Amino acid sequence: MNDLKIAFIGAGNMASSIIGGLLNQGMPAGNLCASDPYPEALQRLSETYGVSTSADNATAVADANVVILAVKPQIMPAVTRALAPSLQQHNPVVISIAAGITVSALQQQLGMTAAIVRCMPNTPALLQCGATAMFANEHTSQPQRNHAETILSAVGDAHWVRDENLLDAVTALSGSGPAYFFLFMEAMTAAGTSMGLKPELSRALTVQTALGAARMAAEGDVELDELRRRVTSPGGTTAAALDSFAESDLRGVVASAMQAALNRSIEMGREES
Ligand SMILES: NC(=O)c1ccc[n+]([C@@H]2O[C@H](COP(=O)([O-])OP(=O)(O)OC[C@H]3O[C@@H](n4cnc5c(N)ncnc54)[C@H](OP(=O)(O)O)[C@@H]3O)[C@@H](O)[C@H]2O)c1
Repeated sequence: MNDLKIAFIGAGNMASSIIGGLLNQGMPAGNLCASDPYPEALQRLSETYGVSTSADNATAVADANVVILAVKPQIMPAVTRALAPSLQQHNPVVISIAAGITVSALQQQLGMTAAIVRCMPNTPALLQCGATAMFANEHTSQPQRNHAETILSAVGDAHWVRDENLLDAVTALSGSGPAYFFLFMEAMTAAGTSMGLKPELSRALTVQTALGAARMAAEGDVELDELRRRVTSPGGTTAAALDSFAESDLRGVVASAMQAALNRSIEMGREES
């Protein structure tokens, strides 16, 4: 980790989370630099984490062997076009976390032989509890892939995909997924409230139940369907609820919703390219 010199372009939420995660893992603050045109964002980062900052993107990348593009997708073309001459001088691996920006679009701006890792993180990365999928182009060496994995693992789980197109499925699953669980929790909270529970109690029970269920799924090695069977006594209350979900084709509803997210991700990728 000590051989990494990382420049963050964009000092917003995601950059801040990754920096926090890296420092927690023992990365020296002196190895990290962030740039952003907005002084408040830079001041917040340097006060919170002690990393060096710059208002100039080219200065930030000057001695970096890893550059993380953490700006909004809409401004990515302008950022990469301006950075290309500096990056082409020393060829760091470029990690993009911007939704929908393809490797091909990045190569067109940064040079066709640039080492690029495109990632799809999700919002729980802000709590170092994210799920990220990564795709590396053929110009990314094994040590550079290792660097990307080390960095994204600092904010949660990180997994490789072999086909860049699969990032659209990842977007539909883990990228948008936190919102699906928020919606389900909203619905459970509302139903509990309509059954007479105080809203605060209904919310607290819902959230703790979601957390407990997620931990049981994450920390054991029992399959999800088996975990479900274990809490479903024949003829009991859980079975009654699950039968009702089946009658409403809950699985079909989830599959259609994720297909809609997948279609939109593909469409947005075309718009951004
Ligand atoms: N948040 C998530 O959970 C999440 C999940 C998956 C992917 N992503 C991706 O991560 C990227 C960053 O998201 P975020 O939530 O961290 O956004 P954010 O908080 O808005 O951070 C982006 C930062 O970049 C700054 N910026 C604007 N123009 C710049 C320039 N020319 N050079 C350098 N920095 C510039 C922005 O300043 P201003 O705010 O003042 O414009 C802001 O501080 C996005 O591409 C997003 O698609 C985010």
